Amino acid sequence: MSKRHQHLIVTEPYERLKELQRYGVVVPVPVALDASVRGVSVDNLNQLLVDTMTLRDLYKKHHWQVSGPTFYQLHLLFDKHFDEQSELVDSIGERIQSLGGVSIAMAHDVAEMTLIPRPPRGRDEVPVQIARLLHAHEIVLKEARAMARQAAETGDDGTNDLLVSDVIRTNERQVWFVAEHLVDTPLIAHEHEPA
Ligand SMILES: [Fe+2]
Repeated sequence: MSKRHQHLIVTEPYERLKELQRYGVVVPVPVALDASVRGVSVDNLNQLLVDTMTLRDLYKKHHWQVSGPTFYQLHLLFDKHFDEQSELVDSIGERIQSLGGVSIAMAHDVAEMTLIPRPPRGRDEVPVQIARLLHAHEIVLKEARAMARQAAETGDDGTNDLLVSDVIRTNERQVWFVAEHLVDTPLIAHEHEPA
């Protein structure tokens, strides 16, 4: 919190309460998967979760801050992708809990853990917004594919399916929609090109 707003801090009474389940501990769940297998999946999914939350928030930032002649279509597209990333966040978070783990949830922890570079608070121009989104998608896709292979090898088919069918497919489709904006399409096509 900034110094200017420090007088707003209220002493809170929760600090000494015992946690029901510490982060990093995987409790027994009768899904016929060893705790060691579920532990690996939970660790992987929490990394994917914080990166997906960061990508989700990057879309909302750009939805608000976009500018220029393509303002309206990008404003709508970025929000559509935000909604789809929000659904992935929920699916990944609930998968972690269903495996007996504890999901990362708060922005403080996301900021500490994410592999996606921090953007400035100020506005980027559209090509920079697009470059940041594509870079974030690449980070997510790269880790999701590696995690999907590991889940297949350890027998965690449900996690593998979530990673392949939902996370990878959604991110690949979003990359297509965003990356097409970088293709150079002249307004007057080819008429003046030498034969
Ligand atoms: Fe909006």
